[in-house]
Amino acid sequence: MQPMLEARNLTKRFGPVTAVSDASFAIRSGAITGFLGPNGAGKSTTLRLFLGLVQPTSGSALIDGKPIHEWPIPSLKVGAALDAQCVHPSRRAIDSVRWAARLAGVPTSHAEDLLERVGLSAVARQRTGKFSLGMRQRLALAIALVGDPEIVVLDEPMNGLDPEGIAWLKDLLRSLRDQGRTVLISSHLLAELEDLVDDLVVIAGGRIIGSGSATAFIDRFHPQTISVLSDKPEPLCAAVIEAGGEVLDMQGQRMEISGLTSIQLGEIARDAGIALLGLTEERSLKRAFTHATATITDIPGELG
Ligand SMILES: Nc1ncnc2c1ncn2[C@@H]1O[C@H](COP(=O)(O)OP(=O)(O)OP(=O)(O)O)[C@@H](O)[C@H]1O
Ligand SMILES: [Mg+2]
Repeated sequence: MQPMLEARNLTKRFGPVTAVSDASFAIRSGAITGFLGPNGAGKSTTLRLFLGLVQPTSGSALIDGKPIHEWPIPSLKVGAALDAQCVHPSRRAIDSVRWAARLAGVPTSHAEDLLERVGLSAVARQRTGKFSLGMRQRLALAIALVGDPEIVVLDEPMNGLDPEGIAWLKDLLRSLRDQGRTVLISSHLLAELEDLVDDLVVIAGGRIIGSGSATAFIDRFHPQTISVLSDKPEPLCAAVIEAGGEVLDMQGQRMEISGLTSIQLGEIARDAGIALLGLTEERSLKRAFTHATATITDIPGELG
């Protein structure tokens, strides 16, 4: 199936800075894809390249097979919230949404519904200058959805949202996916993305580290570690090292080890007369991401 968004050998240089370097990846239709990378990795630049807000130095950024400028009314194809400051501060929220609707050539009568959908009905007629960051994020989202687009691209939309707001946003994005839409979302809040995204694109230093299923990414990059709580951490530490394991971290009664299976660890503890009070094989997107970006700088490719 044709990818909904595709980067082909995409490069963007700003003078001496290469923000995006020979990036190739594809984003499938009907999925939520997380776009992850440390600060300055090139996420926003890549999203801007897809939306035609900056021009590539070389390569291409395609929306459903074509550059954005080849779509007659781009906002019907792709809705984007890249910058929560995008609206004029002296304009009322509802007028900003109506203005976006006019630009997209769609009826302005849905503006009220859109503001309700993003939880801003109560402030629809207020000027946006004094809106909080969270309110601006919601407004930017309403504007992104104005053309009822097939693809929704969001740059750090969780910034400024409180926990309830984040949960609400996740539900909204899931409902967009359930309608068959494609969602691409960049975020630093890795723990929040964990139960949201189907796929990932991971970028560091302008280069794509991996793309594909989130589960495959975690399987590939997650360090094999066990977090263990014991009544005698120091003797356990010595026994682990003696058995060829490695102690990565120790805090009070808890330590994190690698190089042993949980069964081996249980046997070592039993033989040393140490009680294990808890044992978890931790698995998280955050740890896989940290490990991938810290250790891998040179493995482009598909994951799963
Ligand atoms: N208009 C520009 N002119 C010059 N350099 C730029 C421009 N836009 C981005 N850059 C540089 O390109 C690199 C990538 O920036 P970008 O904003 O794409 O990263 P990011 O992954 O979105 O970072 P963050 O997580 O902080 O939002 C950075 O070194 C940045 O300074
Ligand atoms: Mg950015």
